[in-house]
Order: sequence, then structure tokens, then C-alpha cells
Amino acid sequence: MDEAARLREQLRHHAHLYYVLDAPEIPDAEYDRLFARLQELEAAHPELRTPDSPTQRVGGAALESFAKVRHKLPMLSIRTETDISAEGARAFDARMRRELGLLPDAPPLDYCCELKFDGLAISLRYERGALVQAATRGDGETGEDVTHNIRTIGQIPLRLQGGAPQVVEVRGEVYMRRDDFEALNARQREKIAAGQKGEKLFVNPRNAAAGAVRQLDPAIAAARRLSFFAYGLGECSFDAPACQTQFDSLEQLRAWGFPVACQSRRAQGAQALAAFHEQMGRERAGLPFDIDGVVYKVDSVALQRRLGFVSREPRWAVAHKYPPQEQITTVLGIDVQVGRTGRLTPVARLDPVFVGGTTVSNVTLHNLFELRRKGVRVGDRVIVRRAGDVIPEIVGVAPPATGKRERESLSESARAGAPGFGMGCEAQSAAIPSGIASICNEADRPDPGCASREGLAQRFPYVPNFRMPRQCPICASAAVREKGEADYRCTGGLFCAAQRRQAILHFAARRAMDIEGLGAKLAEQLVEQGKVQTLPDLYRLRRQDYAGLDRMAEKSVRNLEDALEKSKQTTLARFLYALGIRHVGESTARDLAGHFGALDAVMNAGLEQLLQVPDVGPVVARSVHTFFAQPHNREVVEQLRAVGMHWPEGAPAPAALLPLAGKTFVLTGMLPTLTRDAAKAKLEAAGAKVTDSVSKKTSYVVAGEEAGSKLAKARELGVAVIDEARMLEMLNAPG
Ligand code: IVH
Repeated sequence: MDEAARLREQLRHHAHLYYVLDAPEIPDAEYDRLFARLQELEAAHPELRTPDSPTQRVGGAALESFAKVRHKLPMLSIRTETDISAEGARAFDARMRRELGLLPDAPPLDYCCELKFDGLAISLRYERGALVQAATRGDGETGEDVTHNIRTIGQIPLRLQGGAPQVVEVRGEVYMRRDDFEALNARQREKIAAGQKGEKLFVNPRNAAAGAVRQLDPAIAAARRLSFFAYGLGECSFDAPACQTQFDSLEQLRAWGFPVACQSRRAQGAQALAAFHEQMGRERAGLPFDIDGVVYKVDSVALQRRLGFVSREPRWAVAHKYPPQEQITTVLGIDVQVGRTGRLTPVARLDPVFVGGTTVSNVTLHNLFELRRKGVRVGDRVIVRRAGDVIPEIVGVAPPATGKRERESLSESARAGAPGFGMGCEAQSAAIPSGIASICNEADRPDPGCASREGLAQRFPYVPNFRMPRQCPICASAAVREKGEADYRCTGGLFCAAQRRQAILHFAARRAMDIEGLGAKLAEQLVEQGKVQTLPDLYRLRRQDYAGLDRMAEKSVRNLEDALEKSKQTTLARFLYALGIRHVGESTARDLAGHFGALDAVMNAGLEQLLQVPDVGPVVARSVHTFFAQPHNREVVEQLRAVGMHWPEGAPAPAALLPLAGKTFVLTGMLPTLTRDAAKAKLEAAGAKVTDSVSKKTSYVVAGEEAGSKLAKARELGVAVIDEARMLEMLNAPG
């Protein structure tokens, strides 16, 4: 019996260290061990279980509906100071002094300065130190009973530490940290990609937190990491002498075990308020959670009483805001930008809007499918969010303008979950299948030629007034999307201005043409100053072209010229690699060079021929084929040859001459004359690959007596089946 009580106390202590003070003293595993022991005890002796036991945070079944809770003391709202400059702080101080009848020479007033958290207000009722009820604010008079969910928040004590009054209501804000929000959305993205129905992304931390608190099933709230800050007292059964000021109440709340923001402080007079506003404004982006302003409260509870209330707002407090982190604006157009690697990115051009401390006029939409998932169209009113140092993003299409409400508070419309705001539409949540081979050049609508019904394009709803271009907007080469991938890419690698710098760097890299002295800085300058447009231009640079370039003294120029000259003598494999063809790394380049022997053979190879190369599958074959199908790329290659690049050519590698090079065999059953090993050795000597299982890639199955499942599989897949005699013939045939 004692043990259960002791364990509860220990767990409470360590949970406070961990969740509230962020300073655990024992390893997680030790906490888990204590926890498990308490669970075990309580299971064996249910009479030992208490409602405030740490084991009782998550438990109980989902509710049917929320019970209404009438607040004993109404939950007030705060008047907002609309002037976001320092003047806002002075105006509030002046008002307080006037209303208290203070003369100009009276000493400055004491205030308590706090952060204004962007979450949702909660009232926590403790009786004899134990949490008995948690309620949302609702309309301020009546809220909803969300105790089952609030209990799951580790930062909220189930039992108050130290001496507690008979009854006390603690007021504060439930919120979600930005990193927890990002992690939650990352998990959501995975679920959506895995095709799980009904999953959605959350638009901002406040929405995610509010949604969690208003879940009927506590397991859902428990799975989202929520946090809490206490900032005030509601009903209290005794007038704690310790709480004669707001700042003292914060200290008391901290002593009971609640998290209280460490930024809270006392300040005297208008100037100190303005300084607090300014300092928090600077620190805002670096905080791990969203705030939308600061709050000033007259510190003395006695003065607060004198000041009283107007309607639902206390006269003694004010919220001094910051520029919003979310704003509504209009999409003026959707541009397509080409990145250094050739990736085409749709970018929304916005009616410039001041959000999160900067003016935002362009926001990336990442790719066609993100754009579709968000349902963004030219002309739409969208919500732009920029929190902390995060890059601005469009979180969704704004609900239809309702005039006043929208202008006043975007948060409210978000909270209301207005249609069109969320991204939870099931139809918009679809999986991105991976590892699918062919290139799919349907720009927007699915192309019957290459679409399986599961294709990306088909699973994301069509957005009417935007199409991905079929040609690169920079160089007009074909823009293609490999099926199963989200990005479109420009195929004009060597020619495309957007990719020039990258193409040069790749070309000059050690494993490619190995042009020493041609690094990022120089490549950048050559491109910027228009001295190099395509790779062959590198070999046409004259002495005077280097004049005026950084760090290109005479010696450096001479070294570079030597390196360029030296690079002309290379190998076909290196040259192919240096061209930067997508999916052609060093080893594929070697395979291609080995198989074809000559550049023209590679350039003119059809898809079928490319597929004959060992380890070249449909993705690589397509990529090589598309690359050389672009006249611009061929032109660049010709010019490179013209400036003197050369390599030994003509003789395909021995492998390509072997009679069975590139062919894959599977042996099955008993062959009439050869053992399995002998047959394998002969086939391999002729350049064939021998594998154990039959697939579409298998060229021939050699079947002997009592051939079983492999033979059946070959028939099923339509793979050629031959006998030993035919195999021997093939071995002797000339390559
Ligand atoms: S005090 C005195 N303090 O702001 C009035 N409220 O409009 C009682 N809020 O939804 C509130 N940070 O959840 C107070 N440090 C803070 C706050 C804060 C955020 C929220 C509160 C309520 C709204 C009031």
C-alpha cells in the first residue's frame, strides 16, 4: 500500500522535472520501470488506484459528446491594443493612470508583462489539490468539459505540489510547440503518402492543439504532443496572501508545478512595457512556440479590483500585438521556376503581404501535387503563414471572404474549420507511389499512354487554371516527370541557362573531366558574366576573358588553361558521366561505355538497345534516350568534340562481343549431359548472367527433366524456354 503511494509521488516528481522543468534526473527507462511497477500494483489491487495517479492520464473510452461546464468565474478576454508600435504601450499606461486618478508626478505603475500565447484557453479545477475538471473557454460563461484530454498533457499536474487550497481554478493556454507541430505534420504526410484515408495536414500549431483538445477520444489527444502555460487564477477558495500581485500568482502557479513562461516579468511604467514588447518582438522568431503579442496586466490585485471590467474585458489588462504570422492574400499568378538541377517548381506570385515580419510576394508550391493538394488556383485568396524562421508557405485556400470576420481574425476562421480551409479532403490525400519506371509526360491530366489508374496525376484532383509546362520555361527543352515522382524536370541539362552553373561544376568535377581550378566561385562568375553559356565555351575562353574575374591572376589562368587542355584527352565513360545525364552515375557511365564502345552508338541507341546494357533498367534507359533526343544536348556534344575532346573509341568491351552478353539465363530440372554447375560455367564464359529465379527480365529458361515451378513461371511470364541442345548451339554461335 505504501509502495503505491511512494511510487505515485516519485513519478509525479520526475514527471514535473521532465515535462515542466525540462531537467530530468533519471533516465527514461527508469521512469518507465517505476511506471510499470505502479501499473502492476494497481492492477493487482484496484483499490489502490487513485484518480490522480500518473497511470490514469490516458484511459477511459471515447466520449459520446462533451458535457457543458459553467465557469464559476467567467473566462474573460483581453482588449487588444491595435497600435502595434511602442505608442500602444504608452496609450495603455496613460489610460491606467487616468482611470486610477494618478497625478502626473505619481510614481510609475507596476505591471506584469507576459507573452500572449497562441493556443487555446483552458480552466483547470483542482479540489483538495487534485485535478477534477478541465474546461474550454467556450463563450466565456459556459465551456466544454475536456478533462479526459487535458489529463493526457504531461505538463499539467494531476495533483498540485505543496500546500493547495480546497478549491482553485488555474487558467492557462494549451498549445503545441512548433517542432511538435512539424513532427506531427511529417507523420501525417507519411500517412497520406501511404494512402491512409481521412488523414490530413494541420494548418498551424493552434489548430492542431485545438483539434486535439476537442477530440472525444483521449487516445488521439495523447498521441499529439501538447504543452501548457499557466497565466492566471479563476475561482480560489482562499485569498492567498501570496497572490496579491499577478506576478506573485505566477510564482504560486510555478510552485504548484505548472509551467510558467520564463519571459514573464515585472515592469514599471510605459517605457518598460514598450521595451518588453520590443525585446519579445526580437525574440519571437526564436521561441519554440507561436505568440501573437504580449500581455500587460496591472500587477496589483487591489488595483485590478478598482479598475474592474467593461463587458467581458478587464480594464487592467491589454494585449499588445505583433504583426501577424498568418495573412490572407491573393494569388496573382503561378510561375514555374527552374532550379539548378533542372527541377521545375511552381511558385505562387502573391499580392505582396506583410507576414511574420517580412513582405512576402512569392511562395513555393513545391510541385504540382502539393499545389493540387492545397487546391491553389490563380485568383484564389489564400492563407500565407510565416512563423519563426521558417520559410513562408501557403497553408490553404481561405474560406470565402466574410468581410468583417476575415479582416479581424484569421485565427477565428481557422478555428471554425471553415470549408475550404483545411486540407483534410480525403480525395486530396493520395499516395505517391515509388519505384515506377517510365517517364510520364502528361502535364496535368493523366495520359492514357502511360497512366496506370493509380497514377499520381489521377489521384490528386485537377486544378483548372494551372498546367505544368511541357517545355522548360528557360530553354524550351522537354519537361518530363518520371512516373511516380512528383517533380517535373527540364531535360536540357547542358543547354539550359538555369542549370549552367551546376552543369559546369559537374563537368569539371574530379571524377568527370577533372578540371583543376574550376570551382564554384569561378563557375558562378563565368556564368554570371555571360562568358560561358554552354560547356564547349569553356574551351574557347581567351586570356582577356579572365580579366576582371576574382582570384584569377596570371598564374591561376595558366594553370586553368593547362587543366582544360589536359581534360580533352579522356575516356568515354568519364565523358558520359560528365554530361550529367539524370540517373547516369559513374558506374552506369562505365556500363554504357563498355557496352557500346563508341559515343555515337550510345547517342543513337534506341530504348531496346539501351535495355540490353547490364544493370540498365527502364528509368535509366529512358533518361539516356530522352537526353540525346534533345537537339540542344546533341549540339553541345558535337561542339565538345569540335573543340578537341577525344577518347579511345571503336572497340566495344569484350563483354559486348561475347555471344550471350546481356542475356540472363535460369537453369531448371536435370539436363541430359551437363551438370548444373558446368552449364552455368559455360553460359557465364559466353557473357551470360545466370540467376536463380525467373522474372520478366529473364531471357531464357533452360529446362531439363522434372523441371517444376520455374518452368511454370516462365510459361506464365512468356519467357522463352529452351533445352540443353539449343543452349549449346547458342554458346557456339558467333557474337
Ligand atoms: S489573461 C485577463 N494572459 O488570450 C484576461 N490571456 O483574449 C484573462 N492568452 O483566449 C486572460 N496568453 O487564452 C491571459 N498571458 C496571457 C495570455 C492570455 C494568451 C489568451 C487567452 C484568451 C485570450 C484572451
